[in-house]
Amino acid sequence: MENKEISQAVIARLPRYFRYLGELKDEGIERISSQELSDIMKVTASQIRQDFNNFGGFGQQGYGYKVEYLYEEIGRILGLDMTHNLIIIGAGNLGQALANYMNFERRGFLFRGIFDNNPALYGKRIREMEVRPMEEMESFVRENHIDIAVLTIPKTGARAVAERLVDNGIRGIWNFAHIDLNVPKEIQVENVHLSDSLMKLAYNINRFEQEGGI
Ligand code: NAI
Repeated sequence: MENKEISQAVIARLPRYFRYLGELKDEGIERISSQELSDIMKVTASQIRQDFNNFGGFGQQGYGYKVEYLYEEIGRILGLDMTHNLIIIGAGNLGQALANYMNFERRGFLFRGIFDNNPALYGKRIREMEVRPMEEMESFVRENHIDIAVLTIPKTGARAVAERLVDNGIRGIWNFAHIDLNVPKEIQVENVHLSDSLMKLAYNINRFEQEGGI
C-alpha cells in the first residue's frame, strides 16, 4: 500500500469503521456494500467510498467489501496489529478507571504500570499492577519499552512530567490533563477533554430546540 498523506479527518473516522466492522465480523457477516454500511453507520456511501479510496479502495465493483479483510486492514492502518506498552501517570479516579478498563487490551494496548507522587497510594493494587512512586518512572519506561504514557494528573505538574517521559523514550502521550504540552514534534500527543464532547452535546441540544425540533 502506498504511503500517501491521509487527512486527520479521515484518520478520525477510522476507529468508528473499525468498531462497526468488528461487530459485523462477530455477527458472521462476510461481505457488505458501501450502501449497507452507510445505512448502519449513518454516513453517506460516497463518504465511505472516498475514505476507503485513501487506502486503495478495499472493494470490488458490485461485490462490496470483505468485512474481515477490511477490518484487518483498517486495524493495520491504525497500528492495532502491534502491541503498545502503556503506563499511567496519576492513580486517582481517572487513572484507576482507565487501568480497570479491560477492553484496551483487546486492541493491543497493554498497561504495564501506574505511577503517582502520593505516598499514600504506593503499593495499592489496581488489577495486577501496584502503584509505584514517580522516582521509579524513568527506569521503568526504559526497561519495559514503554511507548505510550497516559497523563491523568492535574495540569500543574503535566508539562514537567511530559518532559521526563520524552527524555526517556516515550513516543506518544494520551493527555487528559487540561493543558497543552510542549513536546518535540516527533512525540505524538492526543488530547482528550471529555468536557469538549459535553459542550458539543449542549450546543446540539440548543440548536435542535432553536430550530423547532425538526
Ligand atoms: P484525582 O485527584 O483523583 O487524581 C489525580 C492523581 O494525580 C492523584 O492521585 C495525585 O496524587 C496524582 N498527581 C498529582 N500530581 C502528580 C504528579 N506531578 N505526578 C504524579 N502524580 C501526580 O483526579 P482525577 O479525577 O483522576 O483527574 C485527574 C486529572 O485529570 C485532573 O486534573 C482533572 O482535571 C483531569 N480530568 C480530565 C478529564 C478530561 O476529559 N480531560 C476528565 C476528568 C479529569
